[in-house]
Amino acid sequence: MAAQETENPEAGNGIEHVAAIFGVTGLVGKVLARELVTKPKWKVYGIARNPEIMPPIDQRSSNFHFIQCDLLNRSETEERLSLLQDVTHVFWLTWASQYQLDSVECCEQNKAMMSNALDAIVPKAKALKHVSLQTGMKHYVSLQGPFDDEAEARYYDEDCPRVDKRCNFYYVLEDLLKERLVGKVAWSVHRPGLLIGSSRRTVYNFMGSLCVFGTICKHLNLPFVFGGTKRCWEETCIDGSDARLVAQQHIWAATNVDLYSHSTDGQSYNAINGPSFTWKEIWTALEEKFGVEVVHGSAFSEEFWYSKSMADKKEVWKEIVAEKGLVQTEMENLANWEFLDVLFRCPFKLLGTRNKVDRLGFTVRYKTLDSILYWIDCMRDEKLIP
Ligand SMILES: NC(=O)c1ccc[n+]([C@@H]2O[C@H](COP(=O)([O-])OP(=O)(O)OC[C@H]3O[C@@H](n4cnc5c(N)ncnc54)[C@H](OP(=O)(O)O)[C@@H]3O)[C@@H](O)[C@H]2O)c1
Repeated sequence: MAAQETENPEAGNGIEHVAAIFGVTGLVGKVLARELVTKPKWKVYGIARNPEIMPPIDQRSSNFHFIQCDLLNRSETEERLSLLQDVTHVFWLTWASQYQLDSVECCEQNKAMMSNALDAIVPKAKALKHVSLQTGMKHYVSLQGPFDDEAEARYYDEDCPRVDKRCNFYYVLEDLLKERLVGKVAWSVHRPGLLIGSSRRTVYNFMGSLCVFGTICKHLNLPFVFGGTKRCWEETCIDGSDARLVAQQHIWAATNVDLYSHSTDGQSYNAINGPSFTWKEIWTALEEKFGVEVVHGSAFSEEFWYSKSMADKKEVWKEIVAEKGLVQTEMENLANWEFLDVLFRCPFKLLGTRNKVDRLGFTVRYKTLDSILYWIDCMRDEKLIP
């Protein structure tokens, strides 16, 4: 579905801001779209490849327009997005996941995807004010090590230098924005930790994986095991980032002109919940929420691998979906077992500070346990899990 040509169509109807949300069906994209369409001064274009999986927002809202587009296809992107001449705010909440993270191919593909979109939009969108990029806390580390397992936790702030040795597509995207926008349009980059939200279009889907595991454990009466290292189980290792917080932070940075009026050099912000947590605390609370058994004293196991234990459970998931009348999904639409295995065996701590956003007046915070419990309820409401 292509949008109609939209140069200055809003005169007189109260619309002041026009968002282009890239990745509108993903973890943060859905929340951001839902939030912005409720605001009377906003119009929203939501962009993704799959039209059948729409964010649960009121489709009758005349302020929301879904644009089906494969951003890796240059001519399709040019054809469909160059019509969006009234865009004032771009939100880049998407990425190309075909290649291994931090490979040259991954960097090239993500650069091509963003170049295609910028080439289509920037020259025509004369009122473009701000571009908001989402990357992540992996900005601060190299995934290939070396890791110092015994090192004390380090809390990364936005001034920490890049890890210069390896490819990181986050750096490539920042550099591209710098190159294309400096002197013209303000921009900011937001770095979440582990995203906590609901989506069927996410490769690294923590909540989907957790909820499918909990549901299968309950259905088959299996113990709810934490498969990972003792250190990951007992110590604070990663920040949670509630999708609602990240969406609010994007809006805050994009609309708070005081933050960027003086410069188009780009501002970076960690986007994390705040208070720290351990998986041990979370697991105990999930026992009741999922109605599963956590065997206290032996709830965590270094020998338990989700990718091995869940490999033969696809049919079980199909059975649960049919029996409970859930929205049709395959297990792999929600769960990524290799991701859980890596997350719970992460050889380094990845923790950030909130000092910068706190100082600048962004006040949204969540406890990660509360975020997890909230998003379990949302996934139940969306009938993704029973
Ligand atoms: N997931 C996490 O826990 C996490 C944590 C920290 C940082 N991040 C970072 O946050 C950024 C966004 O990732 P995410 O996990 O939040 O996103 P996501 O939930 O995986 O959503 C991706 C979105 O992009 C769309 N998309 C993918 N390929 C596309 C293409 N070729 N053309 C058009 N649309 C496309 C998807 O819909 P279709 O598939 O239908 O096109 C979907 O709407 C990435 O830089 C990621 O590294 C993620």
